[in-house]
Amino acid sequence: MSTTLITNIGVLVTNDPGVPGCGPGPLAPVPDAAVVIDGDRFVWAGPARDAPAADAVHDAGGRAALPGFVDSHSHLVFAGDRTAEFDARMSGQPYRAGGIRTTVAATRAASDTQLEAGLTRYLAEALRQGTTTVETKSGYGLTVHDEARALEIAARHTDEVTYLGAHIVAPEYADDPAGYVDLVTGPMLDACAPHARWVDVFCERGAFDGDQARAVLTAGMERGLTPRVHANQLGHGPGVRLAVELGAASADHCTHLTDADIDALASGSTVATLLPGAEFSTRAPWPDARRLLDAGVVLALSTDCNPGSSFTSSVPFCIALAVRDMGMTPDEAVWSATAGGAAALRRTDIGRVTPGARADLVLLDAPSTVHLAYRPGVPLVTDVWRGGRKEV
Ligand code: NIG
Ligand code: FE
Repeated sequence: MSTTLITNIGVLVTNDPGVPGCGPGPLAPVPDAAVVIDGDRFVWAGPARDAPAADAVHDAGGRAALPGFVDSHSHLVFAGDRTAEFDARMSGQPYRAGGIRTTVAATRAASDTQLEAGLTRYLAEALRQGTTTVETKSGYGLTVHDEARALEIAARHTDEVTYLGAHIVAPEYADDPAGYVDLVTGPMLDACAPHARWVDVFCERGAFDGDQARAVLTAGMERGLTPRVHANQLGHGPGVRLAVELGAASADHCTHLTDADIDALASGSTVATLLPGAEFSTRAPWPDARRLLDAGVVLALSTDCNPGSSFTSSVPFCIALAVRDMGMTPDEAVWSATAGGAAALRRTDIGRVTPGARADLVLLDAPSTVHLAYRPGVPLVTDVWRGGRKEV
């Protein structure tokens, strides 16, 4: 296998947990840095003057470098879009979870080829913006067949696949939500579990209540899936505390939190994943990242990319929102979008530039990662390596 030296990096964010002072707060980047890649892994990172020789050399031209973004929450297997709903919302209509039904109808009507083409397009879009790991979900099929095929399609493109049969009660079960929970925890789970790593539920008024969510998550856990929860997005509720109680990897959204929710997150091992694209696109109040950070909660920052509440695949956009409107420092936001996303996926091989980690690296046309928030909307990502391959 041949080695590649990437040198003349202006500043390198490593997220190395072994370096004192290196994230989740200050990032302590290495100035005048280099990395060496062997196959799909980093084998060395440090000051350029100490770098070992390699078979090939890439000159980073003084750019800032950081680990590839880890987008630990998206919904990319769908058809159609919801332009009209967004347009109406920007004219004053509220966001309603019921809009999901529009996408369910379009997704059921789409072929596998159409669904996969959409997924491929959004993944390519994300990669160009520096995302090298994407979690994605079912949840727009809501039949045994349509949920299983969504997961099969997703699993061809990522290892981080989540079963979200419990997104909303399927329209056919509108008068029998208990029957739908039986389906989700029975035959649908049987068909879906082999294709997924995670089980998720939308625990929210208008979707699934605490008891139903518990039933969905525990059934998934009995089949070897690890829980993550759509929690406290539209209002207060039991989602966050349930996630912590069950040892979920992540509680996602966390927009409406009580002190008890924050205490639960701070005392447990569940990462809080913040998704500011959703607040942006639904004109909802921002999650209070500062309050969570000050309480010691580990945060991830992701896109929630979906056609209803957050149709962006851009992690840099989410970083800019988190810094401007959620009280995060630029360093905290960058850490949460890389190492935090990895923590939300219980991964130690991504989100960091350390020997042995997967060689996912992003170069920015900028002197520091602060520019991701300082220059919002500007396409700063110039080069992306994923698993040691130069993709952008
Ligand atoms: O995470 N909250 C539930 N699911 C998505 C929205 C889905 C939709 O509106 O299509 C979310 O925001
Ligand atoms: Fe979501």
